[in-house]
Amino acid sequence: MEINYGLAGLGTIAKTHLLGLRNLPLLNVPVDFSINLKALYSTHPIENMETAKSCGFTEIVDTMEKLVSLEDLDVVDICTPNFLHCQQTLLAAQAGKHIYCEKPLASNSKETRLMVEEVKKSNVVNQVAFVMRFNPAVASAHAAIKQGVIGRPYAFRGELLHSSYLIPEKAMTWRLQKNKSGGGALADLGIHLIDLVRFLLGEIQSVSCLTDTIIKQRKNSEGIFQQVDVDDWASLSLQVEGNVKGTIEASRLAVGNDANRLWIYGDKGSLFIDLDHNPYYPTFYDERGQRIYPDPKLLAQDPFYERIAKLYPNSKLSQGFMVDTHLTSLLWFLSSVVEGKTLDHTPTFEEGNRAQLVLEAAYQSSSQNGCLVPVNHNQT
Ligand SMILES: NC(=O)c1ccc[n+]([C@@H]2O[C@H](COP(=O)([O-])OP(=O)(O)OC[C@H]3O[C@@H](n4cnc5c(N)ncnc54)[C@H](O)[C@@H]3O)[C@@H](O)[C@H]2O)c1
Repeated sequence: MEINYGLAGLGTIAKTHLLGLRNLPLLNVPVDFSINLKALYSTHPIENMETAKSCGFTEIVDTMEKLVSLEDLDVVDICTPNFLHCQQTLLAAQAGKHIYCEKPLASNSKETRLMVEEVKKSNVVNQVAFVMRFNPAVASAHAAIKQGVIGRPYAFRGELLHSSYLIPEKAMTWRLQKNKSGGGALADLGIHLIDLVRFLLGEIQSVSCLTDTIIKQRKNSEGIFQQVDVDDWASLSLQVEGNVKGTIEASRLAVGNDANRLWIYGDKGSLFIDLDHNPYYPTFYDERGQRIYPDPKLLAQDPFYERIAKLYPNSKLSQGFMVDTHLTSLLWFLSSVVEGKTLDHTPTFEEGNRAQLVLEAAYQSSSQNGCLVPVNHNQT
């Protein structure tokens, strides 16, 4: 089957998606569909024409309305700034297109709820790009926890540390404006770990959060200083169902210490995921701190892990963690479209909405000096 694919936006992450999708025929991954790069929606269609054509797109349009009105388009991949996700989703869903949307799902929970309602009404397949679920290290941790390898998990520690905004001269972007992004390091990076905690350990019940904005002003494109009104750094303490507790740190100013790591401690052992260094396998320890190697045959019986292990490009064909992980997440979504049902453990828009509620509780806590705030799951 050929899937007619439409893309909204041609920024950094759209290119990450394209690097994976264009090379799909070379990657020896078992999918029974091919992808036709049918149409690109860009706000700069003239400037992007050559790049888009050389990637293989047959059409370039200058409005979202034109993109979703293409009759034979099957899916829309939304890769635009966060404040646009909601209106673009509504248009795509109303046109009956299946939707893959970058994270965070939107810039607030009013929008994420609207999006959930609309995709349900339109009955379209939907997935938010919580891509970290889709590498073998996380999938095998998911299987191992279910199979009791580390006993009952009781604590965790996650870090997503970038240095992308370290330089004060880096100009103002939509990411640093709350009305366009919905939040800073926490909304941009921390949301991935919020999703992983929910996925691996259970629903988050309450949160205490501290944030800080270290670089308070940046020059805009006219060279005028503008206020940064989002966090550069955030630290969260979370209480998860089943009496699991832990912390998450997210930063855009981590000098010399980029990291993408999660430790989970159980009463019979622990596991450590280090995605930047080994997206294929976590490190496991028993209760005495000895390294252990869970039976691969047992782990392979887990349907989610089994499928991810096959879809994720092998190390010889890797295009790096970012491209591989985004591609596997996209292939998961496209498999749901082809099979006509949402695959188990898909981060649907509903999951995106739940993560958004945690985010909002965290920001509420940070505005109240870190007091404990319950997550209001009634808003789902
Ligand atoms: N899942 C991940 O790991 C991951 C990583 C990076 C970015 N993202 C997400 O991807 C999305 C895009 O991020 P990015 O890094 O590619 O940003 P970017 O700034 O590099 O690109 C944004 C794109 O949107 C376009 N755009 C801007 N305004 C527009 C408008 N009004 N209408 C249509 N298009 C418009 C820009 O021209 C550009 O092509 C964000 O939601 C971001 O959070 C996710």
